[in-house]
Amino acid sequence: MLSQDLAAQFLRMYPLKDICWKDIQQCISSLGYEEAQTAQQHILSQTVLHPYAQQFPPTSSYKRLFLKTLISHIEEANVEVSEILYEEYMRLLSDSASPADGFCYRTYNVSSVELPTITLKETCSLISDGTTGMCTWEASHVLAKWCMEEKEKFHKKNVIELGAGLGLTGITVVHTCQPASYTFTDTHASVLKILTENIWNNQNANKPFANIITTPTPSDGWVEGSVFATKYGNTMVKVSRLDWADSMFNFDADVVLAADVVYDNEVTRHLVKLLKIIFSKIPTTDVYVASTLRNPDTYTFFKDLLASEDLHIKVEICRQYQDSPSQPQHSIAILHIVASTLP
Ligand SMILES: C[S@@+](CC[C@H](N)C(=O)[O-])C[C@H]1O[C@@H](n2cnc3c(N)ncnc32)[C@H](O)[C@@H]1O
Repeated sequence: MLSQDLAAQFLRMYPLKDICWKDIQQCISSLGYEEAQTAQQHILSQTVLHPYAQQFPPTSSYKRLFLKTLISHIEEANVEVSEILYEEYMRLLSDSASPADGFCYRTYNVSSVELPTITLKETCSLISDGTTGMCTWEASHVLAKWCMEEKEKFHKKNVIELGAGLGLTGITVVHTCQPASYTFTDTHASVLKILTENIWNNQNANKPFANIITTPTPSDGWVEGSVFATKYGNTMVKVSRLDWADSMFNFDADVVLAADVVYDNEVTRHLVKLLKIIFSKIPTTDVYVASTLRNPDTYTFFKDLLASEDLHIKVEICRQYQDSPSQPQHSIAILHIVASTLP
């Protein structure tokens, strides 16, 4: 159980200070010599040498720091550190293969029974290449989980996501709710490219690792001016560029999803204008927008703008989200928005 949790934490690059090192220390120091050696090897195989970490690695610096911290806790417990931990640590120190482009992989929900395991290529910075879309935001975790609880709202429906970022919400919905179609949209070409890679990697994730390693990444993935389309399980998945400022909407949508798209009043104006266009085309559309409540003024501005455009908030759901004990707790609201003319 300990190593399962540790695998899940390691693969999503959980803050090292929030890992329960004391439990690991206690567990290892309660064992005899041989068992303690085996336990250390097992921890290594469930973290740095985990098959996911081989294929979709966290950053090299994270791997190094993880091993350094593990070794120091074992030493502190007066247990002999396994040679293979030292060897792996030395190998990582001399490993210069860290991706120069600042990308890493995070694999979410590895030990969860209720959530699907999803691997995403991401950056470690909140803003990269001029966009906030290169990392996964809290609201998308909350929206993904809520969608799973409300599967029937998405099953066999045509769903479109606005500002999809790297795809956590959408890939979760496709995996667990089996919509008829799911269209991921965003405005940034760099986001759409990585998003397409992420979709492809997760689509192929149930195949044996050996197969994935020998298969090239999608050379026919998203390219400027194109729509990437693939059959993902029972769902037709598309990746398409959609800029809210263009006020164009040529999609069939029963449901619209968006996570963490309310953070700037100018951007919010475009978003609400687009929602208005969507409702004018298909008045029965259900729109769900998940927002992290950072700035009350920004959120109130969004709600006031919806009201002024005659868009109705049918339900407001509030959830709390905390990534790990050292991270701040966030309040996240999911708004169900409908056209005011509907009951
Ligand atoms: C804070 S990120 C959220 C990404 C993702 N939904 C998540 O929660 O992880 C906001 C996203 O909205 C996209 N975005 C910002 N302005 C946009 C616009 N005018 N049209 C379309 N997408 C936009 C960004 O590229 C980015 O992916």
